[in-house]
Amino acid sequence: MNSKTANSKYDLVTEIENRWSPRSFSSETISDEEMMKLFDAARWAASSNNYQPWRFMWARKGTETWDKIFNCLSDFNQKWVNNATILILTAYKEQFDNGKENFHALHDLGLAVGNMSIQAQSQGIALHQMAGVDWKKAHEVFEIPDGYHITTAIAVGLYGGDPSVLPEDLAETETKERSRKDLSQIVKENTFSFL
Ligand SMILES: Cc1cc2nc3c(=O)[nH]c(=O)nc-3n(C[C@H](O)[C@H](O)[C@H](O)COP(=O)(O)O)c2cc1C
Repeated sequence: MNSKTANSKYDLVTEIENRWSPRSFSSETISDEEMMKLFDAARWAASSNNYQPWRFMWARKGTETWDKIFNCLSDFNQKWVNNATILILTAYKEQFDNGKENFHALHDLGLAVGNMSIQAQSQGIALHQMAGVDWKKAHEVFEIPDGYHITTAIAVGLYGGDPSVLPEDLAETETKERSRKDLSQIVKENTFSFL
């Protein structure tokens, strides 16, 4: 158990216990095969009507696409994201083929990324999801067709980075214990009394 292991009284699946979101990564590369395994794990997630509304675009550091994704990220994320070796943009398709809104598309994209993060954990790969992406800019830069919505960016790298490469405030969170709300704050039996 280290400072990042989930502090749970339950014996959870190892990948869930040990997953966390680093901002420093080992400099070793990740193969195409390993990346495709992550996307395949996403592919096998459950989805409303099995519609699979998730889409992923990815790029390696050193490519033009990486630079374009990087330029869509918030100033905060630009401070650390160069430590990762791969960037992903996630998106979902807003409507079913019949034109009806897929109200659960965002939910399903989240499930797919959840699958991906657990698969990644089993491969020693860390994901750091980011809401800090200017999706409007990304739509422009990548000429995203109508009907798709860019949602997050994900930094991908191997665990085992050196936190001292980070600015001081971020280096501190890198080793800090992970915290969560108490179970009683998020789950109730027979009532929805969360006030
Ligand atoms: C949808 C989503 C958006 C996030 N956006 C950012 C972000 O823009 N920048 C960042 O540094 N971390 C971001 N995070 C990481 C969270 O801060 C992190 O998951 C949370 O603090 C819990 O830490 P853990 O993943 O290590 O358990 C995001 C996570 C998720 C799931």
